[in-house]
Amino acid sequence: MNAFTFVNPTRIEFGSGVSRRAAAVCQELGARHVLLISGMGSARRSGLLDAVEEGLRALGIPFTAHEGVRPNPVLGHVREGIAKARDCGADLVLAVGGGSVVDSAKAVAAGALADHDVWDFFEGGAPVRKALPLVAVLTLAATGSEMNGGSVVTREDTRNKTFFSSLHTHPRVSLLDPDLTLGLPWEQTANGLSDAFAHLLEPYLNTPLRRPIVQLELKEGLFRSLVDCGVRLKANPQDLEARGDFMWSATLALNGMTSAGAGPAPYPVHMVEHAISAVTDLAHGAGLSAIYAGWIRWRLEQPQAEDFAFHLERLGQKVFALPESCGVDAAVEALVAWYRQVGTPATLREAGVAESHFPEIAFLAARQARAWGMGAYTEVAVMEILELAH
Ligand code: NZQ
Ligand code: ZN
Repeated sequence: MNAFTFVNPTRIEFGSGVSRRAAAVCQELGARHVLLISGMGSARRSGLLDAVEEGLRALGIPFTAHEGVRPNPVLGHVREGIAKARDCGADLVLAVGGGSVVDSAKAVAAGALADHDVWDFFEGGAPVRKALPLVAVLTLAATGSEMNGGSVVTREDTRNKTFFSSLHTHPRVSLLDPDLTLGLPWEQTANGLSDAFAHLLEPYLNTPLRRPIVQLELKEGLFRSLVDCGVRLKANPQDLEARGDFMWSATLALNGMTSAGAGPAPYPVHMVEHAISAVTDLAHGAGLSAIYAGWIRWRLEQPQAEDFAFHLERLGQKVFALPESCGVDAAVEALVAWYRQVGTPATLREAGVAESHFPEIAFLAARQARAWGMGAYTEVAVMEILELAH
C-alpha cells in the first residue's frame, strides 16, 4: 500500500424522494441568492426543476436560472454562467442534472470567484483557491462528479475537452435520489454503466502493482455490482432497488476511495475518449465502451504488459466468473459481451464514429498526452488504438 491522503468533503444524502430537500439544504448552507444550473430540458419536463424552484420560493430564497447545459458541456456556457453568478450576486450554486450539469456548475462556482479566466483552471494549471458552495441534485448515475472535485468541459475553438480537479469544487452536499433516474432513456443508463465501469477499470488495469489487495477487492465488488445492476435494469428499467445500487456504485467508483493507496494511475482511455467526444459529440460512456477492447489489444503489445495482463485475467475471473488461467483473450471477450448485453457500442463503427475523424481525434489526444506527460500516446499510437477499436 502506498502512502496517501484521503479527504472527501461531500455530504451524501441518498434515498427515494431526497431531492425534495434541495431548497432546505440551500437554506441550511445560508444561501441568500442561488444560481440554479440545469441541462437541456429533461429536469423541466419531469417536473423536478419546477419542484426545486417552488421549494426555493417557499423558503424565500431568491434564485437566478442558468439552463441549457448541453451534454459534453462547453466553455462558452460556463462563462455565461459565471457572468450571471456575478451579476446576481449568487452565493451558492445549485446543480440539477447529470454529470455535464454538475461539471459546469463546478466551473462556474470556481470561476465566479477567480480574478482570471475560468479556462486557466483547465489549461495552464491555475489552482482553484476558492469556490462558491455547490449543491447537486443528481439525475443520472454515471460520472461520480457528485462526490469528486473534477470538472470536464470542452473549449469550442480548440476542441480541447479537459478537466481540473479541486477539493474546493466538491459539492458540499449531493442529493442522490434514485427515483429521478427511473425515466432515463435506456441509452443513458447504458452509457452510465459503461462510464462507471471505466472509472474502475482504468486504474485497475493501469496500476503497476498486484496489490493493494483491499483496493483490488473493493474495485471488484463494485465491478460485480455494476454488472449485476446492468442485468437487473435490462430486465426491468423500473427496478428502483437496482437504480439505487447503480447510483451509489457509480458514486463510489470515482470518489477517491478505491484509488487511495494504489499509486498514480493514468486514464489514457478517458483521454482518447474525451478527444472523440470533442470531435464527434458522442456520449462519453458510449465512447469509452467503443474503444476499450481496441485499447486493451494495443496495450498488451506495449512494453511492461505483464502486470496489465495479470489484472486483465483477474478481471475475467473475479468479475466475469471465468475459470483460472482463462487467458487475456477470454477476458476481453467477456468485457465486450457485457457491453453488448448492456447495449453500449463495443467498437467505433458501432458507435457511428467515421474513420475520417481519426486523424483529428489522434491529434487532440496526443496533444493532451503531451500536456499530461503520457509520452507513449503519440498521434501514431492513438491512430493504432482507433484502428484496433474500429
Ligand atoms: O440535458 P438534459 O435535458 O438534462 O438531458 C440529459 C442529457 O441529454 C439526459 N438526462 C440527464 N438526467 C436525465 C436525463 N434524461 C432523462 N431523465 C433524467 N433523469 O441525459 C443526457 C446526458 O446527460 P449528461 O449529464 O451529459 O451525462 P453524464 O452524467 O454521463 O455526464 C457526462 C459528462 O461528464 C463528463 C463526461 O466527459 C461528459 O462530459 N465526466 C465527468 C467526470 C467527473 N466530473 O468526474 C468524470 C467522467 O469520466 C466524465 O469525463
Ligand atoms: Zn468517465
